[in-house]
Amino acid sequence: MKPQLLVARPIFQSVIDALSSHFEVTANQSDTAWTPDAWKLALSQHDAALTTGTDPVNAQVLGAQPRLKIAANMAVGFNNFDVPAMTQLGVTASNTPDVLTETTADFGFALLMATARRMTESEHYLRAGHWKQWRYDMFAGAEVHGSTLGILGMGRIGQAIARRGALGFGMNVIYHNRSKLDAATEAECKAQYVDKETLLKTSDHLVLVLPYSAESHHSIGAAEIAKMKPTATLVNIARGGIVDDAALAHALKHQQIAAAGLDVFEGEPSVHPDLLTVPNVVLTPHIASATVKTRLAMAQLAADNLVAYFTQGRALTPLNQVPRAS
Ligand code: GLV
Repeated sequence: MKPQLLVARPIFQSVIDALSSHFEVTANQSDTAWTPDAWKLALSQHDAALTTGTDPVNAQVLGAQPRLKIAANMAVGFNNFDVPAMTQLGVTASNTPDVLTETTADFGFALLMATARRMTESEHYLRAGHWKQWRYDMFAGAEVHGSTLGILGMGRIGQAIARRGALGFGMNVIYHNRSKLDAATEAECKAQYVDKETLLKTSDHLVLVLPYSAESHHSIGAAEIAKMKPTATLVNIARGGIVDDAALAHALKHQQIAAAGLDVFEGEPSVHPDLLTVPNVVLTPHIASATVKTRLAMAQLAADNLVAYFTQGRALTPLNQVPRAS
């Protein structure tokens, strides 16, 4: 008997077809929204789930004695998982690191450039028919090359952004992270470790790439924004909730910083209404890893994690197991 697999949201049909040789697959290709009760029931009827970053897996949905053995997230972030609860209930968690690193860094850099160079603001102006003549100060933005790039959270994606900034754009790269990188990695990224205060005060462009957790909640709020340069830009490709969006909207409205680029939002897909009305923000709907090639690689890796778990024996570590809570 093949194990029962729930694929929570639509994914590439080719991946579902491949999974079907290992699992009895229940797919949700029509993207029917899960009510909390339907989600709980579906999890209780399957041995494995392929989830996305918006599908919660925690004690409440798993119940006291879950049938589920593994949830494989098709995302590098896994703040939709309650890992301590999953560990306690014997549910393995996996994610999809590495395959999206360069693509996500590309997007982070694109968002930085669009923000600094006011691309969407100027496009709206053009589309609205306001462009009548050239002016010396029309949409004059902030310099990217040669400026100071600050990175908060220096994991794989942070390092890939650092390399782009330092090697491609001659930027002076500084970073803050829970732990300082080893000297060889710092040298490769041409990045210098600084404390958070210095990062906030010195960055011309500050990019957030840290994972979301209770500790990183509102890492950037009114107090932190107040320390930034009035000419600075802020880019969030990490997770909603790392920035206090209300405080950011207020700061953008009052030009306390020059501009922001946001791919993630508190309570997404809702967006703080004030962010929708301020002009100096570039907004995208959580698409940093969204290239066809990378999304396929993520789906494939999530599938590989599931297959590895069941074919290598449950005691073995699947690929990309999220570390168990101790
Ligand atoms: C996207 O946000 C991811 O975590 O993969």
